[in-house]
Amino acid sequence: MGNILRATDNPVPSGFGSTSTAEQVTQGIDASGLTVIITGGSSGIGAETARVMALRGAHVIIGSRTTAAGLAAESLKQSILQDTPSARIDIIYLELNSQDSVRDFTDEFLSMNLPLNILINNACVMRCPFKLSEDGIEMQFATNHIGHFLLTNLLLPKIKRTAAETGIEGRIVNLSSADHLTTYREGIRFDKINDEAAYNDKLAYGQSKLANILHANELARRLKAFLSSKSRITYISSEQFTTPKHFHVQQEEGANVTANSVDPGLTKTYLGRHSTISAAEIRAITTCFLWKKSIPQGAATTCYVALHPSVKGISGKYFADCNIEKTSAHVAVHCSSGGSRQSTKLLCRGCRQLAAAPTTTVAIVLRRQVEVVQRRAKKRKATDRDCDANSC
Ligand SMILES: NC(=O)c1ccc[n+]([C@@H]2O[C@H](COP(=O)([O-])OP(=O)(O)OC[C@H]3O[C@@H](n4cnc5c(N)ncnc54)[C@H](OP(=O)(O)O)[C@@H]3O)[C@@H](O)[C@H]2O)c1
Repeated sequence: MGNILRATDNPVPSGFGSTSTAEQVTQGIDASGLTVIITGGSSGIGAETARVMALRGAHVIIGSRTTAAGLAAESLKQSILQDTPSARIDIIYLELNSQDSVRDFTDEFLSMNLPLNILINNACVMRCPFKLSEDGIEMQFATNHIGHFLLTNLLLPKIKRTAAETGIEGRIVNLSSADHLTTYREGIRFDKINDEAAYNDKLAYGQSKLANILHANELARRLKAFLSSKSRITYISSEQFTTPKHFHVQQEEGANVTANSVDPGLTKTYLGRHSTISAAEIRAITTCFLWKKSIPQGAATTCYVALHPSVKGISGKYFADCNIEKTSAHVAVHCSSGGSRQSTKLLCRGCRQLAAAPTTTVAIVLRRQVEVVQRRAKKRKATDRDCDANSC
């Protein structure tokens, strides 16, 4: 496949698309020196991602809440081993809606003394009825975002160290969804995350998927670099690659680790099982929609972003069908330069506090976040008004 570097704001087709499968996009890639963690790797897109990563030689760690013999994760491991006897797969118990469990998972992984090259934040629940997690946070936000936020923060030193020691780029991949477009009007409702009366299962799912993108974008910014809007497209082999003048990279931590988000596309999994619609309806929806991707197709974008050399150096982007894709206006507002990027930072700060806070303080932390966002917005408005008045 050759080493290709792609530095772009305007997507150049990768050569893969919506019908590509995970095996196709990783054809010829040797991942035997890599260790990858996949959350929710026991079913659906996560299971296929785990299978293909193992097929390419990576040491795969599956974070799953079904670890007992005979249950999903273990049977997946057995079936992968049948096809690929040399596969290296470990399963560690992980319940993302419990912060204690996330910490235990991390401790157990770190005690294995393995490197960590790739973290795939894949697990999720979709459109479940209102429920609070063990830590008192709305279930979809807790599982899909906060659990992964904490996990990433706890594993980040390991990923950075591995990248520094091996010289191999570390990669963090957050599974998001086109449903990030279908969130509350305000985007993330900091002040109403735990408000049952204002809860809408569909919009709350979109909110958590929007948080997945913002998390990846902010991580990308903090970890290393993002390309300025002036950066032009280059799609050339790495041997020829020299940093062009217009290729403006803002270094923060300077870590050799990227963070991106992906939309796998509508895929025939049983993701809808958490909602209130019946199992028969889910089966009907899952199997009847002919335009839905197969699971191998659904896992392609994750595997492409996690493994493909074309993605080297690309960070803070959102991919769909194995190409860079535009995100919603909410992402643009949250991540644009200047004051509004503050809200993304605040999201991270708020989530860090949430992840560290005992249950009782969660509501207080959320309220404080809102107050800070509102105060800053007010200040900005006032500044804009002053500017207008002074015609500046
Ligand atoms: N399928 C689609 O059409 C589609 C479209 C857009 C985006 N996505 C995204 O793709 C990702 C994978 O979804 P999928 O379709 O493969 O769904 P899936 O088959 O339901 O897989 C989700 C996985 O997450 C695990 N999980 C759920 N809650 C968990 C928790 N609290 N702790 C640990 N693991 C937990 C599940 O484990 P259990 O089996 O134990 O519940 C399952 O293994 C999700 O992030 C989703 O948002 C999917």
